[in-house]
Amino acid sequence: MSLVVTGATGQLGRLAVTALLAKGVPADQILALGRDEERLAGLAALGVRTQRVDYADRASLDAAFAGAERVLFVSGSEVGSRLPQHRNVIEAAKDGGVRLLAYTSISNADTAGLGLAAEHKATEEAIVASGVPHTFLRNSWYLENYTDHLATYLEHGAVLGAAGDGKVSAATRADYAEAAASALLAEQPAAVYELGGAAFGLAELAATVAEATGQDVTYVDVPAPELVSALVGGGVPQPFAEVLADADLGLGRGELYVDPADLAGLLGRPATTLADAVRAAA
Ligand SMILES: NC(=O)c1ccc[n+]([C@@H]2O[C@H](COP(=O)([O-])OP(=O)(O)OC[C@H]3O[C@@H](n4cnc5c(N)ncnc54)[C@H](OP(=O)(O)O)[C@@H]3O)[C@@H](O)[C@H]2O)c1
Repeated sequence: MSLVVTGATGQLGRLAVTALLAKGVPADQILALGRDEERLAGLAALGVRTQRVDYADRASLDAAFAGAERVLFVSGSEVGSRLPQHRNVIEAAKDGGVRLLAYTSISNADTAGLGLAAEHKATEEAIVASGVPHTFLRNSWYLENYTDHLATYLEHGAVLGAAGDGKVSAATRADYAEAAASALLAEQPAAVYELGGAAFGLAELAATVAEATGQDVTYVDVPAPELVSALVGGGVPQPFAEVLADADLGLGRGELYVDPADLAGLLGRPATTLADAVRAAA
């Protein structure tokens, strides 16, 4: 079977390529796509085929999808510019006769109000309208969004957020990637997977960091504008700080909460827990 992974030069996409290889897919059946030449060369070293594409360049996508049976379509990273890029991917998949387009979306994309969900919802709608057979891999938050900031939590003795007591079903990129590989290879993938691990609140995140490190860390809930100011003060660019604060508000409304069953089902085991991920990062 001819499989294509877009965004393979990124963190999730590369993990999906290695998950496909680990599942026994022959390397020459995998075509890994991305823009960054250096990271494409790194993928080629795994034995897979590589090709440079830009979602903004329709001709590059047409060339990459010729003969492709199944495509793992990793959403682009240029928030705000993604819809026209994603439309190019969808149209190229349609014209190339792709038989399964597996799109990495966001939790509850059809109903969530957080800003990040809008492009995912519109992309899902465009995929449905295209008639290309599809599966939506609606990923919740990455656990790495938290574990990558352990040093900051320890420095301040605090996890700062605007999520109230909302719960997030975060899971590791590696688990989402393995699940994506399973869905891509499934005989009859579901139309929608709501993917996430065991849910936790940010107070539990703080308590877990405290337990794993033996240091005092508590959750400090602040209004969203205050969170934006604190993030900007810590060097986060204003637009991204606003996206993060908006995501916390969505988290507070339960929009990044999902039943862990879909992810566990694709993995054939429970997802990596918050405690294990924090311990590994600590
Ligand atoms: N669930 C979450 O918590 C969460 C958090 C962050 C992001 N996301 C979403 O999940 C996606 C994957 O996450 P990640 O951590 O793997 O992100 P990442 O490491 O930034 O990787 C993004 C990938 O998308 C590719 N890409 C972006 N724009 C492109 C374009 N115009 N044409 C072709 N390729 C393009 C990048 O290619 P090059 O690097 O080669 O340019 C890279 O391979 C992100 O793109 C974003 O949509 C989700």
